[in-house]
Amino acid sequence: MMIIHRLGSISSTNDLLREMADNGAPEWTAVMAENQTAGRGRMGRKWHSPPGNLYLSVLLRPGMESGELSRMSLLMSLAVYHAISQKGVTLRLKWPNDILWKGRKLAGILLEGKTMGAEVIHVIAGIGINLTMPREALPGDLASHATSLEEAGIVWSREELLTRLETAMRRYSPSIRGMDWERAMREWSLHADWTRDYVFMDGSRRVLGRPVELNREGHLILETDMGRIPVRSGDLVEI
Ligand code: BTN
Repeated sequence: MMIIHRLGSISSTNDLLREMADNGAPEWTAVMAENQTAGRGRMGRKWHSPPGNLYLSVLLRPGMESGELSRMSLLMSLAVYHAISQKGVTLRLKWPNDILWKGRKLAGILLEGKTMGAEVIHVIAGIGINLTMPREALPGDLASHATSLEEAGIVWSREELLTRLETAMRRYSPSIRGMDWERAMREWSLHADWTRDYVFMDGSRRVLGRPVELNREGHLILETDMGRIPVRSGDLVEI
């Protein structure tokens, strides 16, 4: 069973859980907060965290190599996808680990790993799911890119979601069974949206392209004017 520490207002569930992990907390220790004052997103972004949404971090000790961390993040998005999914509502995955409804973001995942050499000591899977996010809670352009379970007509309660998240994360956690990456990446591909163009941003590099496939390593292959390029890290921005 996941042991969930339920807290009120804290800086970031990922930060608190990292401290607990460094002090020897066991796998499946989790921290959930009402709201976060310093919620963090990918690429150094802020994650707006008003009360009313789900902010959860889960400690994993997957016994894997650091080179596998990026694929692990795809697996966790698959897990969150399954936990949120409800009959009749079509959700899509956006590389690497966003969950979208009608092109807008329902949930995001920030995976932070501690490594020693090639070995992964622990992984903190930080999951933010918008439950009822009122548009007014978000600044300007973010509001048009975000949505919530409520808006999508998904009615899981917070408790149902927690149970579903644990079940799905256990199913996709490589520590439970040897991972068939090829199959996992195929499954991820099945739920992704392959119909949009994006600008790929990585530092100062900007490339326009359309995602065409995910390879076995979890790299996204983009079709661009310069041919097909693999995207290993970075961000895709809609045009
Ligand atoms: C992203 O899409 O950029 C990832 C967002 C991850 C947000 C979650 S909320 C719980 C956990 N604590 C944080 O500070 N961030 C993650």
